Amino acid sequence: MSILASVPLAPRDPILGLTEQFAADPRAGKVNLGVGVYLDENGKVPLLECVRIAEQQLAATPGPRGYLPIDGMASYNTAVRELIFGAGSELVASGRLVTIEALGGTGALKIGAEFLKVASPQRRLLISDPSWENHQALFSRAGFDVASYRYYDPVRRGIDIDGMLADLTAAEPGTVVVLHACCHNPTGYDLTPEQWERVAAVVVGRGLVPFLDLAYQGFATDVEADAAVPRRFATLGIPVLVASSFSKSFSLYGERVGGLSIVTADADEAARVLSQVKIAVRTTYSNPPTHGAALVSRVLGDAGLRTQWDAELSGMRERIKAMRQALREGLEAHGVTDMGFVTDQVGMFSYCGLSAEQMRALRAEHGVYGTDAGRICVAALNQANVEQVAAAIAAVR
Ligand code: LMR
Repeated sequence: MSILASVPLAPRDPILGLTEQFAADPRAGKVNLGVGVYLDENGKVPLLECVRIAEQQLAATPGPRGYLPIDGMASYNTAVRELIFGAGSELVASGRLVTIEALGGTGALKIGAEFLKVASPQRRLLISDPSWENHQALFSRAGFDVASYRYYDPVRRGIDIDGMLADLTAAEPGTVVVLHACCHNPTGYDLTPEQWERVAAVVVGRGLVPFLDLAYQGFATDVEADAAVPRRFATLGIPVLVASSFSKSFSLYGERVGGLSIVTADADEAARVLSQVKIAVRTTYSNPPTHGAALVSRVLGDAGLRTQWDAELSGMRERIKAMRQALREGLEAHGVTDMGFVTDQVGMFSYCGLSAEQMRALRAEHGVYGTDAGRICVAALNQANVEQVAAAIAAVR
């Protein structure tokens, strides 16, 4: 009997599986609000102008493609840490910050998980309720005992900060806590600075290990403001892990460009941590690819291209806000007056309050794809589809 004969069929991925389903849907007017991908007014993944120019420059001086170091391209890693922690920061200068190039934010989370298994005596990990679907799957698969802390209050439509603090306070010391640094996925509700202070106090007081997921830097307020949480946590005097990504902010989804940063106590600790992280990388994919990192480090290392990137990122952010407003107005025109919260949420997503059954009806009857959990990607709305989406939501409610 073949070992393959009894392999069970796994369910589709709750997010990327929707893209597969969407691709197979023959209907002309279908709209994919399932996956977290920013689409422009024409419904296309944009090629940022700063990236196009950087790519032209790279093509004009083609170089050999030898292996990168296990931890990635040095200029890229510098750009990552400066973007997250601030170019002039003491931390960046201190030698106690470890940063490696990772294969997107997911790759950073996975390498972080592999590293934590070596560093941490216990395997408990908390994610927000709800959280990005893949957090649960990724950390369970990596051997963690994953539970959740309260985060979203569906009745009040906001954050259950008391529940969150109570659950964190009840966690065993050493528990890893995955926190969304900005643009919470899937809800679109972020903690206020004052609430972050309370969370930080519990994290320090209970000896928890914060693992910050920073996949949307620049999509809430701007690049600097959206780095406030990692910068604050880096001052707490405890180990902090940060998984970051350029998929969204550079529209480089397919290049898999991200980073894993770990704040350590001193340069000696940093060297030991890096040595272990490198083993995790080496035994997973050996070393990372060159192209995406070359593009990002070129853009961030050139004043003109950097300015161009800031403007393009701001353009994406503002267009998302305009789409939130248009969706709200469209819903109101269809008599849906209790979904004004779409303009309060931030980032690419709206947790729209529809049940799994309603989300399935949205797909089946209207060709509008969102996750069963009730998440829609408002960054994929445009002037041509927003009215259709508003009408569809109104129809299934
Ligand atoms: C999402 O949440 O849709 C994105 O982060 C894409 C993904 O990998 O799930």
